Amino acid sequence: MGDFDLVVRGGTLASAAEVFEADIGIKDGVIAALGRNLSRGAEEVSAKGLIVTPGGLDSHCHIEEIGQDGTVQEESFSSGSAAALAGGTTSFICFLPQWKGYSLADSAPGYEEQAKRSRADYSFHQIITDPTAEVMEKEVPALVQRGIRSLKVFLTYDPLRLTDGEFLRVLATARRLGAFVTVHCENFDAIGWRIEALLKAGLTDPLQHAWSRPPVVEREATHRAIALAELVDQPIQVFHVSCEDAAAEIAAARARGVKVWGETCPQYFTLSHDDLQGADFTGAKAVCSPALRERSEHARIWRRIQDGTLDVVTSDHCGFSFATAKKAAGSSAYGTGAAAQRPDGMPAFNAIPNGVPGIETRLPVLFSEGVSKGRIDLPTFVKLSSANAAKLFGLAGRKGTLAPGGDADLVLWDPDRETTIAQERLHHAIDYTPWEGLPVKGWPSITIRRGEIAVQEGEVLAAPGSGRFLSRGPYALARGSGRVPDGFDAAAL
Ligand code: URP
Ligand code: ZN
Ligand code: ZN
Repeated sequence: MGDFDLVVRGGTLASAAEVFEADIGIKDGVIAALGRNLSRGAEEVSAKGLIVTPGGLDSHCHIEEIGQDGTVQEESFSSGSAAALAGGTTSFICFLPQWKGYSLADSAPGYEEQAKRSRADYSFHQIITDPTAEVMEKEVPALVQRGIRSLKVFLTYDPLRLTDGEFLRVLATARRLGAFVTVHCENFDAIGWRIEALLKAGLTDPLQHAWSRPPVVEREATHRAIALAELVDQPIQVFHVSCEDAAAEIAAARARGVKVWGETCPQYFTLSHDDLQGADFTGAKAVCSPALRERSEHARIWRRIQDGTLDVVTSDHCGFSFATAKKAAGSSAYGTGAAAQRPDGMPAFNAIPNGVPGIETRLPVLFSEGVSKGRIDLPTFVKLSSANAAKLFGLAGRKGTLAPGGDADLVLWDPDRETTIAQERLHHAIDYTPWEGLPVKGWPSITIRRGEIAVQEGEVLAAPGSGRFLSRGPYALARGSGRVPDGFDAAAL
């Protein structure tokens, strides 16, 4: 028997800090040693010619979520985690729902049981739609005790959205408990006003989804979310930034010392209005919120990734098939309103459930568009795909690292493999990918999860139920900046 259960030998390792040649020795699911010519392991994997990165951490995806109206997202924990692992993501954070008018305990009971079918490691953000005293003073502290240390709020969608007053209550509670807050930033009333005008004018195509929520709608809500977080002195992450207008708000706030971070997703640097205009209603496949922008926006998003304003790239994977979108009646949790029908029988843009499936393609698209095309280097790829999210969400040292002591979650990338993305080769439960036909250079050959080969050349070996719940620590950030000018700290009351 060797010293190690598994040795990954001869690869080029890329961490968030550096690129170097070494073997990786793994014992009991953890990285035990790094070095050249490590002694033999019980099992050996050759990484010659391959790049080895930490396994991806997708800190924003919707899996098997149960809406208040009874809709269940089609992606199950088994299929979604198979897709994640096949695309190089070894852990993800999805969402515990709160239904409006319900306690946390009574919203989607059984959801945590369902998650136990995951093949990848997983955790939850708690969605807050109704921050009653009971929820904020009893239920949220109990969640934090269990290592569920991040809250998610929406400033749009009916019935998910919070008023500014409710949002402040969430921020203040989070500050008191040392929890992190993530925010969907769009102005609900502005979108509703635009939708009404578009429908009145008979404009119902999927492209009009983008017209109903232009960048200014995202910019306004981003500005407001940051201002309220600044008032409370509570760190936040702005989810799925789609445009320079919103990114500039984050950059300006960070420059004055506000603790705000920005996330974006591959759809915002690869897809555009063109994808919303496919024939035969196929534009519905690209309906997500914030909406896709003009193609010219992509270069601006890349600049904000390069300057560090947008420092986490997630999938925002959302499990609605094209077949489901065609039948949409407008009441889905992530749709925006009454179901106006079109002459062709398809639903108007505002009834199409929002979101695109991307948990498997997130990292290959980021690797290809980022690393292979020379926009980012390998350490930046690692920061965007796992290391920064691990810090923000209390998993630093365990995930997103190649250092000894970290979980042995590894992806062996073939940087020269050229292929095109094809639905028929993906593992998710959704009936399409919006990236169909996209040429990519670089693909995961092997994914290792806690020292076990989870995927080899597209074949998923990890069993349902082999993923573990990740109880998370506090975010790795200093708390409190003393920014409140008059010394009166309402959040501490
Ligand atoms: O369109 C999107 N992004 N759907 C998923 C729900 C959300 O807003 O994150
Ligand atoms: Zn959102
Ligand atoms: Zn989302």
